[in-house]
Amino acid sequence: MKILVATEKPFAKKATDEMRNIAQSAGVELVLLEKYTDVNDFYRAVETVDGLIVRSDKVTKEVVAHAKNLKIVVRAGAGFDNLDLAACTERKIVCMNTPGQNSNAVAELAIGMMIFMARNTFAGGTGSELKGKTLGIHAYGNVGRLVGLLGKAFGMNVIAFDPFVKRENVEKDGVGYVETIEDLYKKANYISLHIPANDKTKKSINYALLSLMPQGAFLINTARKEVVNEEDLVKLMAEREDFKYATDIAPENLAELKEKFGNRVFATPKKMGAETSEANINAGLAAIRQAIGFLKDGIDKFRVN
Ligand code: 3PG
Repeated sequence: MKILVATEKPFAKKATDEMRNIAQSAGVELVLLEKYTDVNDFYRAVETVDGLIVRSDKVTKEVVAHAKNLKIVVRAGAGFDNLDLAACTERKIVCMNTPGQNSNAVAELAIGMMIFMARNTFAGGTGSELKGKTLGIHAYGNVGRLVGLLGKAFGMNVIAFDPFVKRENVEKDGVGYVETIEDLYKKANYISLHIPANDKTKKSINYALLSLMPQGAFLINTARKEVVNEEDLVKLMAEREDFKYATDIAPENLAELKEKFGNRVFATPKKMGAETSEANINAGLAAIRQAIGFLKDGIDKFRVN
């Protein structure tokens, strides 16, 4: 039995060493394909494996077509928009994610970005404090909830919008539940995005929503660049000198945003929300355990297709 770990952005060595130990104890061969730059290397490596573990690596229908023995794909992380679920389902390949395993790393980055932007990207000049400001959490999943709890520790007034989470589950964390998305944007000085990228959410963070935010607005995106309507963002930032945007993955129009708005915009050079050794270990180990659990015992907890 063989499992391939294909990571264009590799896990920390400590994580892959431990993943190898787990595989060995289960009598499973672990194959590593790291930092590949040619997708053909991925196609070749996947040909004979029973299981596949990836991070943001795209599991396209071409990958699936090359993977003749594949039975399980585990996305070591939360968002599985990089998996072609339809292609996998057609071949009866089970897909899973590892929810919660890298959430703390992403939540800490979101708060770090808030402070960085509030302090003028550490470039000098009078900034502002998080304390006393309203933080709007857009989607109260594993990451959103942790950002909310950290925000509370900074003395922020935290509110959340998530139609899939019950009011009582938000309120028991001491977080305000808002009924409508408009209400969230109207009330929040900071919006932290935690929605997945799918057909419903892509480009959904648009002019109509963002223009509801009060003066001194910060949009923090550690979710996916695709959820923000980039043309609308340019329009809004041109009209609103108070508006700042920080994102963990460069938007398509980063050059235009930087040229027009300078330090009011910040983007990480490469997605780094989950780039901590702790998150690598948590997500990597969960992924190998889930893959083996499925291949050996048919356990399909965290299945997403
Ligand atoms: C996730 O969805 O879990 C995060 O975006 C992390 O992605 P990464 O594994 O590519 O860092």
